[in-house]
Amino acid sequence: MRHPPCAGAAPPPHPPRPPTVSHSRAAAPGGGAPPRARRGPPRLDFVGGDFFADELPHGDCLAFGYILSDWDDDTCVTLLEKAYRACEAPGRVLIMDRLFDDDRSGPLATAAMNLVMHIEMAGRHRTAAEFVALLERAGFGGCEVRRGSGEKHLVIGHKK
Ligand SMILES: C[S@@+](CC[C@H](N)C(=O)[O-])C[C@H]1O[C@@H](n2cnc3c(N)ncnc32)[C@H](O)[C@@H]1O
Repeated sequence: MRHPPCAGAAPPPHPPRPPTVSHSRAAAPGGGAPPRARRGPPRLDFVGGDFFADELPHGDCLAFGYILSDWDDDTCVTLLEKAYRACEAPGRVLIMDRLFDDDRSGPLATAAMNLVMHIEMAGRHRTAAEFVALLERAGFGGCEVRRGSGEKHLVIGHKK
């Protein structure tokens, strides 16, 4: 199965270090890094891998963009525990995903996509509180929720 790039990690600390983007080995022809689209100094490092078979690249910030909604709760905790092990303290994990309203009455587009997640994937969409519970099961604390103006929102867990 071919996987496009996914997940990301590590905004530059001091001295600056390019962020790492983790992607499956099958993402690029020949299994190498995807071609760079920009000239100039590299702004991203690409690391091939399978986030179930491999540990995640280390960094002070790891990000899951539209990843966890593909999976059931126990699988999400497995991935978040990997992120906790890979996270250099003080650091954080970012979950960027759709959010159900707290009472799960909407938004309508999220409810519709939730059906797709149930039918096509092993996952589902979640409320912010459900994501916070998953983060806490994996060891993260001080969780914050930042709502965007569109469909993608941010739930942050901290490792002290
Ligand atoms: C819904 S897409 C999200 C892509 C991107 N992060 C974004 O925000 O648009 C889910 C991604 O997870 C990748 N994926 C699924 N299983 C994987 C695995 N075991 N290891 C690495 N990536 C995987 C898929 O290839 C796909 O790119």
